[in-house]
Amino acid sequence: MEKRRGKTIAITSGKGGVGKSSIVTNMAYIFGTKDESTYIIDADLSLGNIDIFFGMVPKFNIKDLIEGKKDINEIIIEGPYGIKIIPATSGIVELSNLTEEQRNILMFSLQELTGYDFLLVDTPAGISSNVIYFNSISQEIIVVVTPDPASIADSYAVIKVLYNKTGRKDFNILLNMVKDEAEALNVYRKILAVSDQFLDVYLDFMGYIPMDANIRQATKRQKLWVEHFPDTQATKALLKICNKMVS
Ligand SMILES: Nc1ncnc2c1ncn2[C@@H]1O[C@H](COP(=O)(O)OP(=O)(O)OP(=O)(O)O)[C@@H](O)[C@H]1O
Ligand SMILES: [Mg+2]
Repeated sequence: MEKRRGKTIAITSGKGGVGKSSIVTNMAYIFGTKDESTYIIDADLSLGNIDIFFGMVPKFNIKDLIEGKKDINEIIIEGPYGIKIIPATSGIVELSNLTEEQRNILMFSLQELTGYDFLLVDTPAGISSNVIYFNSISQEIIVVVTPDPASIADSYAVIKVLYNKTGRKDFNILLNMVKDEAEALNVYRKILAVSDQFLDVYLDFMGYIPMDANIRQATKRQKLWVEHFPDTQATKALLKICNKMVS
């Protein structure tokens, strides 16, 4: 069998609504077009919405898996280009803090997945125990940040907590909803300045996605923006980021 990357990447943020799910779903689509086999796990176990971005309605979800009713292959749904989605469903409140046993079931199931290039983990925002857990099982962490001062402050907070609780030192910073590259770098430097002062971490500037009205348009219509607006600024920006990830 062809050798695949097998890379697990968590996409996380301090503040909510910064574009994590939007980035994960469109990134998976780009990987799909490049024949990079990709899974998405909707790790937002209480407010998950990955299926909505694809306009799909899953029959089963992570709850069925964790309760032992279904195995992982029975809950996976397939999106365009063979993207495989492990869905959550909005409102599984009792899963907002996974127990040790539930984590073990999930870990064991994820280990069954093989032959993929990327497993993208769409985490909830914030610093809950699930957020820490899903970041800790991922090989790489992408922190999505916007120029909103609350997002900048909360990004630092999430990096600090992950560093303190898991000892992680390497983080990729992806700027979203920026005006231009200058603004992206400016926000990145702000986070860098604080973390350099207080934490022993390395923050890599991964790139940026501009504020783009076509994204909101596409999201409203449950369409992926990279597919429906192939020439829009945001699509070009995300392509550039994905090209680096597969090079
Ligand atoms: N670069 C952008 N330009 C314009 N709108 C954007 C951009 N990125 C994301 N959005 C919009 O922002 C909204 C929030 O995006 P999304 O749901 O992906 O955020 P999230 O970080 O996953 O939120 P949550 O923390 O609630 O899970 C969506 O309506 C999306 O279309
Ligand atoms: Mg989300």
